[in-house]
Amino acid sequence: MDERLVVVGSLNMDLSVTVPRLPRPGETVSGADVVRGPGGKGGNQAVAAARLGARVRMVGLLGDDAHGVELRAALTAEGIDDSAVGTLPDTASGLALIVVQHDGENTITLSPGANHHLDEATLRSLTEGLVANSADTVLLQLEVPLPTVLAAAREARAAGALTVLNAAPLPGPGPLPAELLRAVDVLIVNETEAAGLLGLPDVPSGGRDEDWTARADQLRRLGPGTVVVTLGAAGAVAADARGPLTEPGFPVDAVDAVGAGDAFCAQLAIALGLGSPLAESVRRACAAGAVAATRRGAQNALPTRAEVDSLLAATP
Ligand code: RIB
Repeated sequence: MDERLVVVGSLNMDLSVTVPRLPRPGETVSGADVVRGPGGKGGNQAVAAARLGARVRMVGLLGDDAHGVELRAALTAEGIDDSAVGTLPDTASGLALIVVQHDGENTITLSPGANHHLDEATLRSLTEGLVANSADTVLLQLEVPLPTVLAAAREARAAGALTVLNAAPLPGPGPLPAELLRAVDVLIVNETEAAGLLGLPDVPSGGRDEDWTARADQLRRLGPGTVVVTLGAAGAVAADARGPLTEPGFPVDAVDAVGAGDAFCAQLAIALGLGSPLAESVRRACAAGAVAATRRGAQNALPTRAEVDSLLAATP
């Protein structure tokens, strides 16, 4: 039986420009032609999950504009159930302005548009009151309002679904609501988000593994039974009740990291939802992220199950 997964989250149109190096504040840098394509952490994770073999339902909000039409078509083209994706009149769809450096590093500026109107009442009306209706797994991110994420997490937990939160992007300084972290089974963060949640100063990437496993364990004490910290090209660390583990990742020629984290989250949620051990799930998730990083764009870059299998098979 395929995993049944519900994604509650954002849908954005991405406008992306590749540049030789990211501009500093006040600086102008010329880049390549603009590339437009469907994105948004919610939409990306839904599309990744569908390509990786799950049966997916998306819950979200679009504006009544041309981007909204395209974003919905991108979901249905993957066989995703869009019956809980609403269209809001007189509102723009979410838009992301992305700058990608030649080695794949990027910055993203968001105009949330309709995503920010996904309040709890709208969530209830879109899902007829049942977010986790017969879902095995509910996958959440933070590009829609926090109270909505909390309501979805509460319901997923009460319905017995595996509740997975990718705490990205963090809404700002200060902790996330304690209740949200306690309602989550699996928390996925990158290094910056891990530091933010622990109230640490921003940390440079590429720290020692033992620092990150210790931090994953510290995050577990905030509530989630399983915590995974992604480390970009260096793989990921994770901790659950059995202890910490490290996955070194897959050496690939990365050209664009946008969407890599989303592929990781979707694959991890599917594997854990199917009952795979944490180490195997994190390894599969790293492989999914690695494939996504070798291609430009967000949804355009997301891998299929066969591509993940073949990278795993090719890497002892
Ligand atoms: O995770 C990548 C996504 O973040 C992009 O597709 C962009 O839309 C932003 O939401």
